[in-house]
Formats: sequence, structure tokens, C-alpha cells
Amino acid sequence: MHKILILTGLIIALFSAAAYSIVLNKINIGKEIDMGDKKVLIAYYSYSGNTENVAKKIQVVTKGNIFEIVPKKAYSKNYDEVVALAQEEKQKNLRPELVDNGNVKD
Ligand SMILES: Cc1cc2nc3c(=O)[nH]c(=O)nc-3n(C[C@H](O)[C@H](O)[C@H](O)COP(=O)(O)O)c2cc1C
Repeated sequence: MHKILILTGLIIALFSAAAYSIVLNKINIGKEIDMGDKKVLIAYYSYSGNTENVAKKIQVVTKGNIFEIVPKKAYSKNYDEVVALAQEEKQKNLRPELVDNGNVKD
């Protein structure tokens, strides 16, 4: 009985590993994508670093230009304050002033 369970487990593990590697290849994780003559700009704003990490991964894969959008006045680290400000900006359709981060090259 134990042998059958172990064998079944091994077969499932093998199929899972194969499926995982097929998925990784299909979505090209970490591999450079040939963008041809297309220009890629990755412009991002990141409050706590998650979007920045994703933007950097996209840059590695696409070899595009990366541009960080930085507000002149940093958002508060206090959750309630930043939520209140975000709601106000949304309701009044406000756009925060941004740091001049220079131009991205063509
Ligand atoms: C003030 C604040 C409000 C958020 N509100 C939401 C939300 O309504 N829905 C959601 O899915 N995530 C919400 N999140 C989570 C962020 O969207 C999530 O952590 C995201 O990865 C942050 O990206 P960043 O690290 O680039 O700033 C909120 C995060 C913060 C700090």
C-alpha cells in the first residue's frame, strides 16, 4: 500500500514539475523578449516598493527605458493619512506635483 502511495506521489510530482517548467517557458520569466524595433517605456510610481520590483523585472525582460514617477511631496507613511489624501485627490481630481526626473532617452 505504501509503495503505491509513494509511486503515485512521485508521478504527481513529476507531472507538476513538467507543467511548471512549461508554464515558465511560455511566460518567458526572466528571459529577454525580442521587442523588435518597438520602444518600451516602463513608467512607474511605487509607494512601498512592490510596483518598483515588478517594473525592474519588466525592464530586464524588455530592455526598455525605466522611469520612476516621484511626487514632490512624499506620501505619508501613515496608512490613515495616505488613504485620506488619496480619497481627496481622487474626489477633486488632483494631480500631485512631480519631481523633475529628466527625460527618458528615445
Ligand atoms: C494606503 C494604501 C491603500 C491600499 N488600498 C488597497 C486597496 O484598496 N486594494 C488593494 O488591493 N490593495 C490596496 N493596497 C495595497 C497595495 O495596492 C499593494 O500593497 C501594492 O502592491 C503596493 O504597491 P507599491 O509597493 O508599489 O506601492 C493599499 C496599500 C496602501 C499603502
